[in-house]
Amino acid sequence: MFIPSPLLLLAAAGWVQAAVSPGRDRSSLNSGWKFSRFTSNPDSLSYNTLKPWMLPLANEFIVNGAKHQKPSGAPPGSNVQYVQESFNDASWQSINLPHDWAIAGPFNAPGISGGMGRLPSNGVGWYRRKLTATTEDVDGSKSIFIDFDGAMSYAAVWLNGNLLGGWPFGYASWRVDLTPYLKAGTNTLAVRLDNAVDNSRWYPGAGIYRNVWLVKMDKTHVAQWGTTITTPSVSSSSATVNLAVQIENLANATRKVDVNTKVYAIDQSGNVGTAVVASFDTVAINVDAGKKQSVNGSVKISNPRLWGPPPGQTPNLYVAVTTLTASGTNGAVLDTYETRFGIRSLTYDANKGLLVNGQYVRVQGTCNHHDQGSIGTAINFRATQRQLQTLQEMGSNALRTSHNPPAPELLDLADSMGFMVLDEFFDCWVQGKTSNDYHLLYADWHEPDVRAIMRRDRNHPSVIAWSLGNEIPEQGSSQGGTEGQELQNIVKSEDPTRYTTSAMNSASETSALANVIDIEGLNYQGEYGAYGSFRNKFPNKMIWGSETASCISSRGTYLFPVTSSNNAVYSSNGGSDSSRMWISAYDLQNPGWGGSPDTVFQSQDNFPFVAGEFVWTGFDYIGEPTPYGGNGGARSSYFGIVDLAGFKKDRFYSYQARWRPELPMAHILPHWTWPERVGQVTPVHVFSSADEVELFVNGVSAGRQKRPGKSVYRFRWDNVKYSAGDLRAVAYKNGNQWAVDTRKTAGSATTLNVTVDRASIAGDGQDLAYVSVAVTDSSGTVVPRANNTITFSVSGPGVLVSTDNGDPTDMTAFPSASRKAFSGLALAIVRANAGATGQITVTAKADGLTGGQVVIKAS
Ligand code: GAL
Repeated sequence: MFIPSPLLLLAAAGWVQAAVSPGRDRSSLNSGWKFSRFTSNPDSLSYNTLKPWMLPLANEFIVNGAKHQKPSGAPPGSNVQYVQESFNDASWQSINLPHDWAIAGPFNAPGISGGMGRLPSNGVGWYRRKLTATTEDVDGSKSIFIDFDGAMSYAAVWLNGNLLGGWPFGYASWRVDLTPYLKAGTNTLAVRLDNAVDNSRWYPGAGIYRNVWLVKMDKTHVAQWGTTITTPSVSSSSATVNLAVQIENLANATRKVDVNTKVYAIDQSGNVGTAVVASFDTVAINVDAGKKQSVNGSVKISNPRLWGPPPGQTPNLYVAVTTLTASGTNGAVLDTYETRFGIRSLTYDANKGLLVNGQYVRVQGTCNHHDQGSIGTAINFRATQRQLQTLQEMGSNALRTSHNPPAPELLDLADSMGFMVLDEFFDCWVQGKTSNDYHLLYADWHEPDVRAIMRRDRNHPSVIAWSLGNEIPEQGSSQGGTEGQELQNIVKSEDPTRYTTSAMNSASETSALANVIDIEGLNYQGEYGAYGSFRNKFPNKMIWGSETASCISSRGTYLFPVTSSNNAVYSSNGGSDSSRMWISAYDLQNPGWGGSPDTVFQSQDNFPFVAGEFVWTGFDYIGEPTPYGGNGGARSSYFGIVDLAGFKKDRFYSYQARWRPELPMAHILPHWTWPERVGQVTPVHVFSSADEVELFVNGVSAGRQKRPGKSVYRFRWDNVKYSAGDLRAVAYKNGNQWAVDTRKTAGSATTLNVTVDRASIAGDGQDLAYVSVAVTDSSGTVVPRANNTITFSVSGPGVLVSTDNGDPTDMTAFPSASRKAFSGLALAIVRANAGATGQITVTAKADGLTGGQVVIKAS
């Protein structure tokens, strides 16, 4: 039997809009904003002038450094027209958050590099919104905050013309206090963002791109991210759960409060059980005016349902519901605060690798940037869930949030789906990689940023380690060691339970930083032998491939001749076509560092103590279109195992074969429609979890291969000569047939085959349907090089959000209703309107072809 908890039920469904629990009202502030972007500074404000007023917000998160005083005198910006209540913003764009102002394009934005995705992320963006307060809101008993999950970047916030503060780091989550300036009736909220050019090595997005919350509560309440839950002893029969609750009293008198916490189980659908699983002793404390105070408790839970990654384990969750009541009264509830957590132990074993609850789990991870393809960086639950589902289908169990902390929703999904997360702070420290990246903020903000990120994320069971940074330029120097040690000390003071790592591509085992961190994180150099040298130097430290592969390819574009090697640099052996900006889909090419999946598998097998890997990357991402990042080049990366639209490249099946050995599967490449190659050598490769594969070309055996053969990680028939017909791979395990795959020569294109990922979606203005179109011949075989222009239209209560095809060179703006197919496929993303019910019809048409449509139910 289960009682629904509004917050948890909605969170589990992914559509948290509002939660009113006794004493606390947290509601979405996403709707009803006005927005304007300025390519040159419209207001004479700058970070330099705003900084002294921003820094005091960091004080909560400074333990080591000096605290900041609010400067005296008039704060900047009060005279800027956009913060005034009287400013008429009617001509500004009406938008809802989360919002990425750059994603609509057009591409080739002036001043923006290929590395940053050629989209117009630069400039100053102003957001404005009215906010209504009741007389109770301002009767002096309440604290009212706005929580920003993330704004890109250099955010500053004004209420009724008063500067409240701000936070520059675009990946941080932070809070401003409205209480001093809130008035009954209509208030005016204004947010200024400022993005320099050259501020990132990938597409950073732009705008208030994560959720924003209005939080109202009694002046005495659980502090921001005020709970810490740890599980210091865990077994299948019993677990100890420790809890610290920090109470903040912003009233002007001492308050005596009772703090009570009960634990409930959450089932796989996100429902909260009625039964109290454990109860912490109620503690009464006095909290002085303007102060914070913590209470600690500990409980034992018998036969705990442990959290662990599937398929071997189950990601069970609990929730601790903390209730704050005023002591000595009739028990008025001041605050209710829910903390989701999991019970699990982690062992970082130098010899065995990672143990979760004592069981070995190989880290089968991918690195990913935060964009979600053609919808950009505006966080969307369904888009994130779809990415993770695709990765889980491949057998992945881990994520590295490269190179910055993720949206909270990603961690919620990781908790409930059972992903292990390496939560990474930064892409640089004191020395920058681009002229306007985080190195400009590091001195003032690294301590508050790290502490804020950790306090936000520490109760997620999915987070298994903290990464201090990626390929820090000073990683190999003594400076890197000193800075790393300082970060290490900060991390340990916030969370002694998890290990740290840093992703090192050039530091050697003798560098100071390697000595500082708990887990040796090697980017690429492991494959070149560094696993061995680090192991010799640190026999008691766990080692993992914090970034591996960087294999590059464009989906479906097979280029000849094919190298006989299992790994090659793209410029040689026919692996690239620079005129079309293609990299061969045989998935053997690397950019001059890294290597094919095959090479990485080989090195991981050669060094069995390595705990696993995080592949660069799970999905293609916007920006960094290596090797076509120069002028006139491409706009999105070639590194993904899955392309930007979410279509799988062939190597998806290479990982699946290795990471899900129990799954019967075989996958043939390339496609088999090569009218211009009749009689020419056209190598056929097969990825399979089997131990033997036989290939038939037009019914004739081309030979049966055993694993391990000439190549261990793919079965290759490199001398096959093309003739139209079919390929058939029959895979065997232990002598028994295990899986079969076929490829058929396609005829000419006749038809659009339209499918949708889910037949019904929520009519909440957020949920998405992913509509795929395949160009097929009359018998339904995909025409593998079709590039017909497809036009989408939507009728009923929904809208077309964007289209894509996974082609890194396609410069058609993402919102375009027309999109060329790439290697036979195209995608449309459709959203139901808020409050929509009924049928949404998505139609795809192309000249000379029979169109198609799908019907999606909104409810
Ligand atoms: C790594 C870096 C990543 C990405 C990748 C491309 O060195 O950490 O951010 O740039 O190279 O191969």
